Amino acid sequence: MIASGRASQSLAAALAADLDEALVETNRTRFPDGEVRVDLDIEAGSNSDPDIVSAGEKGRALLVAATTSPDAFVEVLQLQDALREAGVGEITTILPYMGYARQDRAFEPGQPVSARAMARAIGIGTDRVLLVNPHEGSVADFFDVPCRVLDAAPRLAEPLPDLSEPVFFAPDAGAIGLAEGVREAYGVGTTDYFEKTRRSGEEIEISPHETDVKGRDVVLVDDIVATGGTMAGTVALLRQRDAARVYGTCIHPVLANGAYTRLVNAGVEAIYGTDTVERPASAVSVAPTISKELWSPK
Ligand code: R5P
Repeated sequence: MIASGRASQSLAAALAADLDEALVETNRTRFPDGEVRVDLDIEAGSNSDPDIVSAGEKGRALLVAATTSPDAFVEVLQLQDALREAGVGEITTILPYMGYARQDRAFEPGQPVSARAMARAIGIGTDRVLLVNPHEGSVADFFDVPCRVLDAAPRLAEPLPDLSEPVFFAPDAGAIGLAEGVREAYGVGTTDYFEKTRRSGEEIEISPHETDVKGRDVVLVDDIVATGGTMAGTVALLRQRDAARVYGTCIHPVLANGAYTRLVNAGVEAIYGTDTVERPASAVSVAPTISKELWSPK
């Protein structure tokens, strides 16, 4: 059976269809002091389905939950606990998007390693974890249970139209592997990356690069679009250099604080992300990537 956090209901439904598993319904209560509680709705609709009733006997559940907010983190911990209470023996926690993962080390004295703190808490209530393209794959080592990292980059080639002499650009050297993954899945084109320096949370400086983009279609590939500052900066630079069309793609379309509008105003043709974060730009599902991992023999 599959239970989901509120931010991952559509992905959970796609996975349930792919894997032929029952979907568990849940109920949320918000208390006057701001606390939240999420319950498995044992009585509701399909929860009385024999598949779900027998799930405890089968002993296996998948929990799919993007931790896009502090409440979403709390829900993961509570749902893990509720599944155990319901008699489930083996829980696989799937974090299609792991929030706080970018703070994967203490950059200044006194800072926490937030990714490690979250991983430790989540690891306690589960038997294994699957992550989709965390900012750094090494965050998998923070979990005290087996954790696998899945790569959904090839899925981003699917919504792209026919492109003319495409170049797949990563905004920095760290994302070049993703750009290469999309290019390979697309079938033609070249890859390159910009040099990026982050000045603050929203301010970044993008250094020019040598590739002549004049008249060529460009696909920007990043793991995450948060404020949109990084991608908007590269779009502007590419426009100055007379690139033809510029498409923005990312695994996690967080698109915080009006980022979508910022990118449209910067001149992006379209923005394609996956459903690791469910947004209007979630043009493609990572369900097949996750299903493949769950089906493949260990
Ligand atoms: C950083 O290294 C990541 O790959 C992204 O480029 C970054 O997190 C995007 O953030 P924003 O959209 O706020 O510029």
